[in-house]
Amino acid sequence: MSAATFDAIVLGAGAAGMMAALTAGQRGRRVLLVDHAPEPGKKILISGGGRCNFTNIHTAPDRYLSENPHFARSALARYTPADFLALVNRHAIAWHEKTLGQLFCDHSARQIVDMLVAECRDGSVAFSFGAPVTAVDHGDGLFRITVDGRERTAPSLVLATGGLSIPKMGATGFSLDLARRFGLPVVQTRPALVPFTLGEDEALFRSLSGVSAEVVARTGKVSFREAALFTHRGLSGPAMLQVSSYWQHRTPIAVDFLPDAQSDWLLEEKRVRPRATLRSTLARRLPERLAEALADRLSIESELGNCRDAGLRAAQERLARWPFQPTGTEGYAKAEVMAGGISTRALSQKTMEATKVSGLFAVGEAVDVTGWLGGYNFQWAWASGRAAGEAL
Ligand code: FDA
Repeated sequence: MSAATFDAIVLGAGAAGMMAALTAGQRGRRVLLVDHAPEPGKKILISGGGRCNFTNIHTAPDRYLSENPHFARSALARYTPADFLALVNRHAIAWHEKTLGQLFCDHSARQIVDMLVAECRDGSVAFSFGAPVTAVDHGDGLFRITVDGRERTAPSLVLATGGLSIPKMGATGFSLDLARRFGLPVVQTRPALVPFTLGEDEALFRSLSGVSAEVVARTGKVSFREAALFTHRGLSGPAMLQVSSYWQHRTPIAVDFLPDAQSDWLLEEKRVRPRATLRSTLARRLPERLAEALADRLSIESELGNCRDAGLRAAQERLARWPFQPTGTEGYAKAEVMAGGISTRALSQKTMEATKVSGLFAVGEAVDVTGWLGGYNFQWAWASGRAAGEAL
């Protein structure tokens, strides 16, 4: 029996793969979209708490991590948040801006998946869902894959199986393994946008599980002002997830618990409310339990009026750069994305095609481009998928 032939085979029916497939299909290419999961877009369905934070209006290349920070520029400039929003509006999907430029569906992430599936159907994309790919070969200018016992061939193959985060949901290193097989370098991968774990010496903070506060979290030269959340294992919340992408093992992170306070705030409080304790003073700006834990750690029990100025100044400096030494992160099981991946050195920034393997493309999270929290990763998936889809 002869193999079914296509112009392109896209491996992975997630955000990037569906965008690549629908773009190529609507350009008249015969496309086969393959996924081992029985239905497409599983990560889209759980994203943004089920409402999919599908883009961010502040998308810019400096909000992405990559060995080559300029790589994403071209694709992001050619397919923008406004372009994706136009598609969302065309499908009459209600949306809202939540905070910091993050756009969410009003109702359900399912609408985004349905929209992408409908667009794929518009492009007559063929689907193969729910069966594993058991072989991938390449020769005579054709890629051959075996799925469900049948061989399918195409002159182009798109690696779009995403990253390693949430293996429970079927995430695999398939694209990374295939890339290596085709001689493409892979940048060391690591969990990103992931909660930190704290050790025994910081157990006091773990007892604050569930408490959150707006802070500025810093690692190295980057800082993020967002909410931090204490968990029974360590630190989470947007501020912590953001810095985790930049964090190097065994380095401390610094947290400013008083981002809006003047540098002499405690001295001023001493003047105005000398009978107040540090704990009650901190509780004016922070959740009660956190104020208590911080005051305990600072060992200032007497009333502010009885404290020396130097002691209060030192306490405030500590509160503005509170050091935490994470023991690690919660790993891929809890990471929103994978950092690292197929090296951008091996790919054309215009088309996402491998420079040394004609017809081989890589898109989305499998590539070494990782966005900030807040819709940036989907925007990269749409933009890189679009770039490949236009070149297939
Ligand atoms: P994606 O993971 O979407 O798709 C890969 C596809 O390949 C999957 O359908 C998978 O089944 C398939 N596949 C894997 N291995 C295969 C194999 N061996 N054979 C065949 N198929 C295979 N981002 C954002 O911008 N806004 C948000 O709100 C969120 N929220 C969010 C919540 C949670 C809990 C997570 C885990 C992640 C997010 N993200 C996010 C990140 C976002 O989901 C992610 O960056 C994109 O889905 C990446 O798109 P891709 O298409 O590259 O991979």
